[in-house]
Amino acid sequence: MGSSGWMGKAWFEVAGFEVRLLGPADGGALDELYFACADFFEMVEGRAPATGDGLNLLSARPEGLTLENKLLFGLFDLGRLIGAIDLLRDYPERRRWYLGLMIFASTSRNRGLGALAFKALRTWVLSQGGQSIRLIVQSQNPRALEFWLRQGFSNVGTAIHQGDAKENQVHQLELTLVPPMISEPT
Ligand SMILES: CC(C)(COP(=O)(O)OP(=O)(O)OC[C@H]1O[C@@H](n2cnc3c(N)ncnc32)[C@H](O)[C@@H]1OP(=O)(O)O)[C@@H](O)C(=O)NCCC(=O)NCCS
Repeated sequence: MGSSGWMGKAWFEVAGFEVRLLGPADGGALDELYFACADFFEMVEGRAPATGDGLNLLSARPEGLTLENKLLFGLFDLGRLIGAIDLLRDYPERRRWYLGLMIFASTSRNRGLGALAFKALRTWVLSQGGQSIRLIVQSQNPRALEFWLRQGFSNVGTAIHQGDAKENQVHQLELTLVPPMISEPT
């Protein structure tokens, strides 16, 4: 069934952008996005992006995770893919979600889009029954660490993470999702 099981579902919305699930037909556009994010790719993977990386991201998922629970979203600006968010539902266990990647083209960074998109995403995850979101940040990416701490994540540990061509020390971050306060009757 794959991610098509989500067809007809409403995603999170980011004003001014189209948000939709990516599929194999978007492999080329994802490659382009990776090329536009070569700085990040080099830092994390220790190599330049290459054609085919987009399709690899589309199919990459931890062993045991069903295809239906792997959600790769694209953010489009006037039809051009400018950002990608890789989200795993119920991983590593039910109601805990995992943010595998959030990346925007360099020309779309530092305008508040990341904070805006993540705010919409976390509200949507909560509406889908998610209770927490986890992610990792490479220790050589302190600005991303600051970004996630500002979004409310806590640093819960460190680990060594094996990338394709590079081993990285990473921070493990977690955000507990809390429903908005319902005011109690007086
Ligand atoms: C991290 C990222 C998703 C944030 O989105 P954004 O739209 O740039 O974020 P906002 O405009 O809402 O907030 C700006 C903050 O993002 C972070 N940021 C900006 N550019 C960044 C970059 N090249 N690398 C890492 N973090 C960056 C910084 O914390 C920045 O705040 P600062 O200027 O005070 O340092 C985006 O910058 C990005 O795609 N960076 C490269 C990929 C990356 O590092 N992804 C995170 C992997 S864990």
